[in-house]
Amino acid sequence: MIKHDVKNINLAKKGVAHIEWAEQDMPVLRLIRKRFAAEKPLQGKRVSACLHVTSETANLMRTLQAGGADICLCASNPLSTQDDVAAALVAEYGIPTFAIKGEDDDTYYKHIAAVLDHKPQLTMDDGADVVSILHKTRRELLPDVIGGTEETTTGVIRLRALQQEGKLEYPIIAVNDANTKHLFDNRYGTGQSTIDGVIRATNALLAGKTFVVAGYGWCSRGIAMRAQGLGANVIVTEIDPLKALEAVMDGYRVMPMVEAAPLGDIFVTSTGNINVIDKAHFEVMKDGAIVANSGHFNVELNIPVLQEMAVKCDQPRGFVDQYTLADGRRISVLGEGRLVNLAAAEGHPSAVMDMSFANQALSAEYMVKNYASLKKIVYTVPAEIDSDIAGLKLHSMGISIDTLTEEQRVYLSSWESGT
Ligand code: ADE
Repeated sequence: MIKHDVKNINLAKKGVAHIEWAEQDMPVLRLIRKRFAAEKPLQGKRVSACLHVTSETANLMRTLQAGGADICLCASNPLSTQDDVAAALVAEYGIPTFAIKGEDDDTYYKHIAAVLDHKPQLTMDDGADVVSILHKTRRELLPDVIGGTEETTTGVIRLRALQQEGKLEYPIIAVNDANTKHLFDNRYGTGQSTIDGVIRATNALLAGKTFVVAGYGWCSRGIAMRAQGLGANVIVTEIDPLKALEAVMDGYRVMPMVEAAPLGDIFVTSTGNINVIDKAHFEVMKDGAIVANSGHFNVELNIPVLQEMAVKCDQPRGFVDQYTLADGRRISVLGEGRLVNLAAAEGHPSAVMDMSFANQALSAEYMVKNYASLKKIVYTVPAEIDSDIAGLKLHSMGISIDTLTEEQRVYLSSWESGT
């Protein structure tokens, strides 16, 4: 059997069923897979991917494999792996996979090392951990790497910091920055899956609750919108005046976290920053407050400080750690402060990952075709790819739109005609 480290290979059959179920809602990726199978644009290219190991990711892996790529996959988060999918990738699709839900940090990094041992020519990251380790401790592998792609906001921020220091050693396409990625995946995907994670973990009623969302980027907007849709009273906290103003005009209450802390019943962070909920906030929260994170890393809630403040911690349900403080107040942290949508639920629905992963597949193809002329910087997804994906998605939904008449095209490209 090919190299792997998964929880239980006997889960493969269940994994195949989940992968095929997801595939039904991924029409754009299906079309790309069909073309890739005929054209083999990635023939023989070694790809090391570090992504959330879900049924949607499995469909991306099948697409790259159809394109001729020689792939190896590990988890991009210790708590996001679907163990049945990981088993299916190994046993049914022959893809070396290293991912176990609940793996400790040591295993997480061993799994990254395993995909790097594959000697990648292309890297595919969600959070930039592979790129970071390649640049820090596995530099001997850099000469083989022609390019990479990055899935998420946090990863793109890290890569731009690396580029800023003049240390990025190969071109990378920021898939996150495509419109068909962040306007849909971050907003509607995170919006729905975060609420799904909170509800699956707690079975809490959102109607009438005060729901505090930290941040007002695309992910947080989705979360605020969906929480409001379920009848919660939403408070937004921000550090950026422009985003805060948008939140105000979108109809939310906006205030500093220290003022929101005593009001909130449920808190979700999605800022990309550290200690967004900290000691000063835990100190004034209500008994029964629920706290979760939907940002990429588990740094947004200061859990070590909560552990110091607590006299005990119970697990009344899966993915719930209920801390009791000295004064008797209970504060529950969901999914150990890791992405609640992937830890306690299944991540974004397939229909939205369809577009994100279409961007991944087409960006990998673009990189293989164009790497020789690219600089060692972070690129955005070419506009034609972005727009083609939007068109294909609409088509798959049976929705047609207008096209410009010749008169309108000429009008839009002229400057002479005014009032
Ligand atoms: N990120 C968020 N949701 C995801 C999913 N379902 N699969 C892979 N990556 C994701």
